[in-house]
Amino acid sequence: MPGTCGAAVAMSTTSKLHRYEGTAIAVTYDAARCIHSAECVRTLPTVFDPRAKPWINTGGAGAHAVEAAVRRCPTGALHVERPDGVPESPPATNTATLTADGPTYVRGDLVLMTADGDVGLTDTRVALCRCGASQNKPFCDGSHRKSGFRDDATLRAAESPPPPHPGGRLAIRARANGPLMLTGPLTVVGATDRRAFSESTFLCRCGASGNKPYCDGTHKKIGFTA
Ligand code: SF4
Ligand code: FES
Repeated sequence: MPGTCGAAVAMSTTSKLHRYEGTAIAVTYDAARCIHSAECVRTLPTVFDPRAKPWINTGGAGAHAVEAAVRRCPTGALHVERPDGVPESPPATNTATLTADGPTYVRGDLVLMTADGDVGLTDTRVALCRCGASQNKPFCDGSHRKSGFRDDATLRAAESPPPPHPGGRLAIRARANGPLMLTGPLTVVGATDRRAFSESTFLCRCGASGNKPYCDGTHKKIGFTA
């Protein structure tokens, strides 16, 4: 994140993957998916320092601390590669956390599908655009700050708690000129920690729905293209 803030398979067309080697652990950084939330810098400034070159010093803390800090990155811009080759394990449940005036942070056992239905990326953390202005859809690229997107992340739907064992893979597919279709167990988390569980979720990504975070068909009226 210079400037301020899984087993990943490249999907982003603007992917700029950098690798920072350490003796105990390597860190990879996809600049195209960093939205400068600075979570890494706040968590471990001895490793993540945007004023330093290189800005990631994997030797600045122990491997466990580096791994824990990387897991806090909400966008999946950061990942670690361990010497034993074991990938980052996903959390037990899939969540989509709405941020006020910003993206949706999705965590879990995630697979992003291409328009053709192929696997584009598997990951445990992604930040998905919900303002419609990102140049790196379906990922957030920070454009909501310039576009003036406003939504207080309120979840108006009735609270529906998840079942006892809601684990499983979540498939995410961006429909052409339409919403994000999420198939699999998912808990949407809104402001004040209000939660809604579903197995099939359509999230607005044009920014204009009157029923955010869900799609209400407004994308057709505004001629959203993506
Ligand atoms: S936590 Fe992730 S998104 Fe935030 S600044 Fe660091 S690398 Fe970028
Ligand atoms: S994608 Fe925004 S209303 Fe459907």
